[in-house]
Amino acid sequence: MSLIRLEQVTRTVELPDSDPLTILSGIDLEVSVGDRISVVGRSGSGKSTLLNVLGMLDSPSTGQMLFEGRPVSTFSSGQRDRIRGRDLGFIFQQFNLLQGRTALENVATPLLYATGRQFWQRDRIALEILDKVGLADRASSMPEQLSGGEQQRVAIARALVRGPRLILADEPTGALDIETGEQVMALLDEVAKESGAALVTITHDPKIAQLADTHYHLVGGVLSAVDQSVMT
Ligand SMILES: Nc1ncnc2c1ncn2[C@@H]1O[C@H](COP(=O)(O)OP(=O)(O)O)[C@@H](O)[C@H]1O
Ligand SMILES: [Mg+2]
Repeated sequence: MSLIRLEQVTRTVELPDSDPLTILSGIDLEVSVGDRISVVGRSGSGKSTLLNVLGMLDSPSTGQMLFEGRPVSTFSSGQRDRIRGRDLGFIFQQFNLLQGRTALENVATPLLYATGRQFWQRDRIALEILDKVGLADRASSMPEQLSGGEQQRVAIARALVRGPRLILADEPTGALDIETGEQVMALLDEVAKESGAALVTITHDPKIAQLADTHYHLVGGVLSAVDQSVMT
């Protein structure tokens, strides 16, 4: 079943003193339930812009984006916020944890916007997810007391805590050393699979991309599928 579909999406930004800049052009992409997709591109190729479009943080300049078959352009900003909170999980290169809040509070934050059991039992749920990423014993640690790899594991727990259908990871290992990065990516892949969430990982590192099942390259804002048989 289709979660998100991009049809001929472009993203252009106006620049004050020159012609508009085309960051994404002619993007066709389908993300279905349970998919594991990687997009590899160099710095400046449009990776974060693509992820922001998929995450409904930026809208396409032209072309169409569908969420579960419905055009996102017809959604109100409130509907988009709800989808973003409930169905999407975000992971960033710089972890983006709230400073001055414990690991548990960070993981529980998305549940403040949830309803029912998810709201009332948020600490218990957050602790369960922290346990899944191997950090139950660090629940009361502050971000600055955690290593980079541990902070990213907290961020993974936070992205998963509402049971999203799709996780969007923007250079999730970009701020980690190679070995830690590979461990964190393996964990992300495992917990996403276990929870049934689709995972789109954007990276400049082909090794990190290898865990995915479907591979794309982004070059100068143009997305192309990578032939599986040429993957090493
Ligand atoms: N709002 C913006 N205004 C002007 N240029 C932008 C804007 N957003 C992105 N860009 C430019 O578009 C290109 C792609 O950006 P980005 O999506 O962040 O690439 P990546 O994540 O692959 O490094 C870069 O050259 C960047 O400078
Ligand atoms: Mg980027």
